[in-house]
Amino acid sequence: MKLLTNIYQVGGPSLTHFFDAAVYLMKGKEGWFLIDCGTPEGYEQIKENVKKTGVDPAEIRFILGTHGHYDHVGAAHLWKQEFGCLLYLHELDREQVENGDSVKTSAALLYGTKSEPCKVDGTIAEGDTWEGDGFTVEAMYTPGHTMGSVSFDVTAGEYRLLIAGDAIWGGYSEKIGSNEEAWFETLDKITARHYDFYTFGHVNPQLIADADARLKEAKMAFANYYNPWFKTFYETYRY
Ligand SMILES: [Fe+2]
Repeated sequence: MKLLTNIYQVGGPSLTHFFDAAVYLMKGKEGWFLIDCGTPEGYEQIKENVKKTGVDPAEIRFILGTHGHYDHVGAAHLWKQEFGCLLYLHELDREQVENGDSVKTSAALLYGTKSEPCKVDGTIAEGDTWEGDGFTVEAMYTPGHTMGSVSFDVTAGEYRLLIAGDAIWGGYSEKIGSNEEAWFETLDKITARHYDFYTFGHVNPQLIADADARLKEAKMAFANYYNPWFKTFYETYRY
């Protein structure tokens, strides 16, 4: 579950409940934090996985949410109740989480359950940075899957890692807040940058290399949302 020094994946489809998006545990200069925190269904197992890394879950101070969907931040109210963690999200996904809007958070549409209303303690905007122990994390505004989606650029020594949330390979539905024009721009923005590795919201614990080529393929495959029978013929995808 260790991805890099002081960066772990502690939740995700193969690690905890199959509802859970990838959950990352990071050692900040001022304490431990999570990127996304999974669902109530996976909460106990995620805490167990945190303990397996040698970290007491009570040391986790805050959660950076990639966006306001149930599988990513559905358990935030439990982390707040038990450990007093603060939740940070982009402003445009705040309301649906604070109101427990089960349609917009995708809880009803994809998981057949309800979202608990959860207070958002602060917002995340483009360029916000967090100092880790041996790395830095910078927020990048990447709307499209939802209008409040952010990704995280992690610089660790000479390596650049993209934590994409659902900005890459996430589902498209206007019911859960998706916007095609914004997503096209986001894919241009991501592919204009260089990454050594990337990881995204629904993946097992791994860093995927050959990042620049694979992210360009993700951008090409976006056309399939408009014609599900369409395949970019003669292309072989590496995902
Ligand atoms: Fe999502």
